[in-house]
Amino acid sequence: MTLTIEGVHAGYGGGTVLHGVDLVVPEGGALAVLGMNGAGKTTLVHTIAGLVKARSGSIRLGDVELAGRPAHRIARAGVALVPQGRRVFASLTVAEHLALSRRKGDWTVPRILELLPRLGERLTHKGNQLSGGEAQMLAIARALLTQPRLLLLDEPCEGLAVDLAARVRAVVAELTRTGLTVLLVEQQPEHARAVTDRLVDLANGVLGTVTEHGDENTEGAAGISSSRA
Ligand SMILES: Nc1ncnc2c1ncn2[C@@H]1O[C@H](COP(=O)(O)OP(=O)(O)OP(=O)(O)O)[C@@H](O)[C@H]1O
Ligand SMILES: [Mg+2]
Repeated sequence: MTLTIEGVHAGYGGGTVLHGVDLVVPEGGALAVLGMNGAGKTTLVHTIAGLVKARSGSIRLGDVELAGRPAHRIARAGVALVPQGRRVFASLTVAEHLALSRRKGDWTVPRILELLPRLGERLTHKGNQLSGGEAQMLAIARALLTQPRLLLLDEPCEGLAVDLAARVRAVVAELTRTGLTVLLVEQQPEHARAVTDRLVDLANGVLGTVTEHGDENTEGAAGISSSRA
């Protein structure tokens, strides 16, 4: 479903972080927002997910207005967040995480384990026994099991070894080909470009203009860039 953001301001206490954000992610499309530390990336995805309140403006998924709704209603409307830092539960097993997140729909546990086979080998492991890469896969699995129409990913490659970051990028790129609408926020352009060629900069809570970087996609992901052209 298309995500349409218009004139959104948001912040904390007396401070404003997002200064009138306008953004469209078309249905089935992917967009990466690039920004440095403190640019407002997490604030942006938290505002969409309802964890930070939009002070003004509109956030629509399809025709449904999300701004002003509580987070659980926004989740029910089809928005899933893969949070920065994964946030898996230390004392729950992988299988327990999956069982807790599960809602009826196209994303079944077998389908998830086909996409993320490593999780299948770790079903009895607890959150605190997982590597960073495994925890990230679990965070993605958990989001998918809620049957989202819009997937928000907050720096999913952060802190991962090079090979694991590449694996996570490949999984996210694959998700963009399933028709899911994907909004990724990233600090590092190479992570973003491996997922989508549609990029936009965020600096001090202000978005730049969306650019297409299809020609610069170097990670053997030609199918992704051409399909998004
Ligand atoms: N809970 C909070 N209370 C007050 N200020 C906050 C809070 N969370 C973030 N901020 C401030 O809002 C601004 C944007 O932070 P945000 O976390 O959105 O940035 P970010 O782009 O996600 O950064 P990073 O790359 O480090 O994750 C920063 O100045 C930050 O200090
Ligand atoms: Mg952040």
